[in-house]
Amino acid sequence: MSDPGGSPPPPPPPSQNKDRLIATCLAGGLVIGVSALLGLYLSGSGTDPLGLGSRLRRRRKGGRRPVRVYMDGCFDMMHYGHCNALRQARALGDQLVVGVVSDDEIIANKGPPVTPLSERMIMVHAVKWVDEVIPDAPYAITEDFMRKLFDEYKIDYIIHGDDPCVLPDGTDAYALAKKAGRYKQIKRTEGVSSTDIVGRMLLCVRERSVSDTHKNQNHSSLQRQFSHGHSQKIDDGGSCSGTRVSHFLPTSRRIVQFSNGKGPGPDARIIYIAGAFDLFHAGHVEILRLARGLGDFLLVGIHTDQTVSASRGAHRPIMNLHERSLSVLACRYVDEVIIGAPWEVSKDMITTFNISLVVHGTISESNDFQKDEGNPYAVPIGMGIFKVLESPLDITTTTIIRRIVANHEAFLKRNEKKAESERRYYEGKGYVSGD
Ligand SMILES: *[C@@H]1O[C@H](CO)[C@@H](O)[C@H](O)[C@H]1NC(C)=O
Ligand SMILES: *[C@@H]1O[C@H](CO)[C@@H](O)[C@H](O)[C@H]1NC(C)=O
Repeated sequence: MSDPGGSPPPPPPPSQNKDRLIATCLAGGLVIGVSALLGLYLSGSGTDPLGLGSRLRRRRKGGRRPVRVYMDGCFDMMHYGHCNALRQARALGDQLVVGVVSDDEIIANKGPPVTPLSERMIMVHAVKWVDEVIPDAPYAITEDFMRKLFDEYKIDYIIHGDDPCVLPDGTDAYALAKKAGRYKQIKRTEGVSSTDIVGRMLLCVRERSVSDTHKNQNHSSLQRQFSHGHSQKIDDGGSCSGTRVSHFLPTSRRIVQFSNGKGPGPDARIIYIAGAFDLFHAGHVEILRLARGLGDFLLVGIHTDQTVSASRGAHRPIMNLHERSLSVLACRYVDEVIIGAPWEVSKDMITTFNISLVVHGTISESNDFQKDEGNPYAVPIGMGIFKVLESPLDITTTTIIRRIVANHEAFLKRNEKKAESERRYYEGKGYVSGD
């Protein structure tokens, strides 16, 4: 069992204070909506073996100590569903502490993670509703760890989604926290799961492999890796069914919940960066962090699905425009997104948004920013307001897909298992109120 208290959380990123303020305001707006929900879960009836409930009540009576809530997870292949869970968790308290499960624990419990702990930490930290991150959280919450959360990390409530979480012995992982009256539940985000995304990726590679084979006999190394005697397994359909189509139901309210809802202040220096931001990953986060550091307001242009397909092939993007927009919006370094940005940065766009600087990272799926002909940045280059930023991490969407493909057998197995538990969840699913 790992020791999560051993390593302190990393220092907050530079813009954290400001973002925390924004997040607080946002959460403040949401609290009204969730207060009804809160009342439901606050009733800590039954026995209290740890005596935690009464201690909590004593502490809260006197002061205005902020309410600290805790949520944990693997946060592998992080997507807007994870972000939405963190957003809901944050709304149940004043400060959100997130436990990220270690690589070893994930390997032991469900097979290799796609993203190593270092990248998962970057991703979780970048979510604007997260205040602190604990690395190496245990996969299943233990009594020891729970005590540590309550005593060392001063956690008031442990938060989990409305899907059941059972320990290997079949017992409820959160039974102790529930008994102590220190458990609150949030509504699971509809329409997306890592299982679904892995499914889409495996499908994307398979389809590309098939269609390219028809065109010519040239297989990329990616296709070779994938089709190496395993196409049959995928062709049987069973393991892939249910993961082909995005079940995401985009609502305007979700976009509002994810938005900062604020334009640039007077005299703000506005930085613009555009891209697909498909399978939002640590490489994206790091370049956004650098870009934000160059000004006061970061505007992110997200290319349409058609634009991405035109430049990267028919099976991209993996995540649609709406999904990609939400992932980017959840990032603390982002102030605003354009949902469906044009490929070329026009003079009109620069004027409309008062853009001071247009940036692009060195690590990218396309090198169009270096082209003489048809360079999408020709206008800002001509105006002398274009800058290439050295990408801090050597990761692209293709890197992530490659990792999945390299481990596809393990992922297929894991997906089958998870797809089954998800099927059960959807069968037994009822309406859950909440945000
Ligand atoms: C396959 O593509 C690569 C680069 O895309 C090229 O170098 C190689 O010659 C091609 N092979 C065939 C058989 O077309
Ligand atoms: C446009 O941006 C510049 C900074 O690049 C700023 O000085 C100026 O005030 C902005 N214009 C408006 C109208 O806000």
